[in-house]
Amino acid sequence: MSNVALTNEPPQLSSVDDPAALIEWLRRTSAETPVVYDEKTQLCQVFRHADIMSVAGDWATFSSDDRHLVPQNEGFRVFTKGNLASLDPPRHRQLKNLVTKVFTPRVVAKLEPRVQELVDDQLNHFDGDEVDLVSGLTNPIPALVIAELLGIPVDDREQFQHWAFEMVGIGGEVDVTDPDAAEKVLADLSRIMTEMNAFAFDQIARHRAHPRDDLITSLVDAEVDGMRLDDEEIAGFVLLLFLAGHVTTTLTLGSLLLCLDDNPTAATAVRTNPDLIPGAIEETMRQRPPFPTSKRLVTRDTEIGGVPVPEGAGVVLWLAAGNHDPDVFDDPGTFDVARSRNSHLGFGAGIHFCLGAGLARLEARVVLRTLLDRFPDLRVDRPEVRFYGSTSIVGPKYLPVRLR
Ligand code: HEM
Repeated sequence: MSNVALTNEPPQLSSVDDPAALIEWLRRTSAETPVVYDEKTQLCQVFRHADIMSVAGDWATFSSDDRHLVPQNEGFRVFTKGNLASLDPPRHRQLKNLVTKVFTPRVVAKLEPRVQELVDDQLNHFDGDEVDLVSGLTNPIPALVIAELLGIPVDDREQFQHWAFEMVGIGGEVDVTDPDAAEKVLADLSRIMTEMNAFAFDQIARHRAHPRDDLITSLVDAEVDGMRLDDEEIAGFVLLLFLAGHVTTTLTLGSLLLCLDDNPTAATAVRTNPDLIPGAIEETMRQRPPFPTSKRLVTRDTEIGGVPVPEGAGVVLWLAAGNHDPDVFDDPGTFDVARSRNSHLGFGAGIHFCLGAGLARLEARVVLRTLLDRFPDLRVDRPEVRFYGSTSIVGPKYLPVRLR
């Protein structure tokens, strides 16, 4: 843990299985050096809630378009073409508008019975008193939900899920400052992207031939200013929706159970009063956001929190640090399920605010409510829990629990 507790370098997030040390590092760094610009790496680290909000709110100065920085091969090019998260306006707005109607609170609320059915079905397959909740529940549920919305057939989902986790897990355990290791990471990513792109093209062709009431069909039929999206753009969009809708929610569901296990008083309160379930979800998103950072690129000389930052620099927004800013959150280290104003940054901010926040919250609510109902004595087998050894995602990859 010393890398988290003792240095002013960004913490190794693989160490987030010790949240106390991470929270301490974030709190101290935010207080001592809320904005740090390093000329050598041309990276600016931003820790304070207010600074993160102002960067995220100014897309013209802080662009999300990093497509020129990824390797210029076919796999990356197609994968990033329709990826909302890497687009600036006006294309960002045009594409986002095509799908926001599917994720409004009213439409999402209608999905609750189906999500409940999927959760019940997974739990009915539990065999014995000890299970890994990641493979048994928290990984399949978000994948099933987003795959159904997209219209991906059941038989193809497992392969798709496998790619998703292979992709986000890549690079976590290697030293990317070693050029050979970095090259291998890029080669692995390119291979997965090429395979996923081919899969998406195949799905697009099938949906075009046999239109259905699902998201892929709406993207195939969609027009922006009288122009259809091209297949590469649809493929990138579909892959983003699947990845963003799946991996993050899986990690959050696992972290939710860990947060309750770490905070027995909160867990008892939630068991006694299920109205506190949404508060527990928001506190998990605040204390353990699955994406602890978000990135931007500086388009003109500017400053952040009084620190000059030149055009061309990269900006790392420490969402996880902003979530512990004492100017915004009373007693930020406490997991408080009754916190009244929880303006955490776990879903991002500004125009790129998460499209699926309502859906993720619904899934988390149904999963936690059902687990608490069916297994009131559920306990995490803490020493056996394993985390993603990655610097970009936080959450358990193996979460063994005793059900009874
Ligand atoms: C707990 C689960 C989730 C978390 C923590 C999460 C987190 C985030 C964050 C932090 C961003 C902003 C990225 C940035 O600023 O660059 C984002 C964007 C996005 N999320 Fe989520 N997300 C979750 C679930 C979902 C789900 C279920 C979907 C399903 C559709 C989804 C789709 C998206 C999309 C499409 C974007 C890009 C939006 C844009 O660029 O305008 N997310 N998410």
